[in-house]
Amino acid sequence: MEEIERTLRKYGQGHLLESDLTEGEKKAFFELAERVDWSVIARLGERGEAPRGEITPIGGLGIEEIEGHREEFMARGIAAIRAGEVAAVLLAGGQGTRLGSDAPKGCYDLGITHPLYIFEQLIRNLTEVTDLAGAYVPLLIMTSEKNDAATRAFLKEHAYFGYPEAYVRFFIQDMAPCVDFSGKAIWEARGVPALSPNGNGGWYSSMVRAHADEDFPDVKWYNVFAVDNVLQRIADPAFLGATISSGMMCGSKVVSKAYPEERVGVLCLEDGLPSVIEYYELTPEMANRRDGDGKLVFRQGVTLNYLFRADRLREIAEREIPVHIAKKKIPCLKDGVLVKPDTENGYKFETLILDMVHLMGSCLSFEVVREHEFAPIKNRTGVDSVESARELLKKNGVTL
Ligand code: UTP
Repeated sequence: MEEIERTLRKYGQGHLLESDLTEGEKKAFFELAERVDWSVIARLGERGEAPRGEITPIGGLGIEEIEGHREEFMARGIAAIRAGEVAAVLLAGGQGTRLGSDAPKGCYDLGITHPLYIFEQLIRNLTEVTDLAGAYVPLLIMTSEKNDAATRAFLKEHAYFGYPEAYVRFFIQDMAPCVDFSGKAIWEARGVPALSPNGNGGWYSSMVRAHADEDFPDVKWYNVFAVDNVLQRIADPAFLGATISSGMMCGSKVVSKAYPEERVGVLCLEDGLPSVIEYYELTPEMANRRDGDGKLVFRQGVTLNYLFRADRLREIAEREIPVHIAKKKIPCLKDGVLVKPDTENGYKFETLILDMVHLMGSCLSFEVVREHEFAPIKNRTGVDSVESARELLKKNGVTL
């Protein structure tokens, strides 16, 4: 308790300690406060994104080159899996607001004639690899305070879709406080400060803080992936083999952008280091620039499927990852009643996994065939939706 009090005062949150909470409320507050990353408040001064450095194209492996070396890459990747050097990290702490379902995103049923849940399809994809390797890969699942119980219950009820429970671990991602415009944390209920998940860039620190990695000491590579791409290969031996052989600190699965304005982050170099820049950060000239073969120069769209080298992660753990600060409408207590504001009343903090790529220092761009490996589900209908993912699953032979 003393340590939490010190932390709260350090970050200007002494007002939380001076409230009229009952002993029970106080106890619950301290339990919650322990799982909050209060340090982000100190970053309020950094509001506004840092200017970008010089953006240049990044090399990497294209589809043809990968095909030419497939056997060699596969052999190397399978050997790493058999040696227990690979773990898969499923990022499932998001709120999936665009999909608009109350349940965790992975519990969404894509089936038409029979149930097919997002989690089920992902575990199928992973099992294809573990069957081939003849060895299991630890599956570390990051949830959030808001969806942890529902996620665990759902997967248990479905017997982890056949994946051995001994290889499954859950960890809850750290939360960030929501603050008003003067940087003070807000009460959402008595003894409960308004909190939000601290973004997918917090996966490593949250995993370590929860000791979720400790049962698997041989892991040298983490394959971190989003919950919503139902076609992605997980612990893909070819991707692993290629990244290990490259000597680079991380790898990113990319797809060729479908058209210049596509809303997807692009892997490139920024002042000579790998970086993922958002689609709106590319000037129209850069987005449309083509090389001698007529291909877009900045075409490597990231799919949120990365490989990170464990020893380098340990090295960069002490370095600060950028914190993105956004104005939001934050429900708060007013005279004992929860009020949903009509206008923005404070800030939320978020870290992004794409910023880790830059910190890693080197990154292999590994291109995959879009129609076979990229079916993200962000919305119900339209672009990147349940509808478009169903079509792509069918094209890949999955019965719905
Ligand atoms: P998205 O950026 O698509 O966010 O997350 P989201 O929360 O799932 O969906 P919207 O924006 O509210 O509609 C990309 C991946 O990062 C995970 C998500 O679960 C998804 O796999 N994520 C995101 C986390 O694990 N934690 C977070 O705090 C945010």
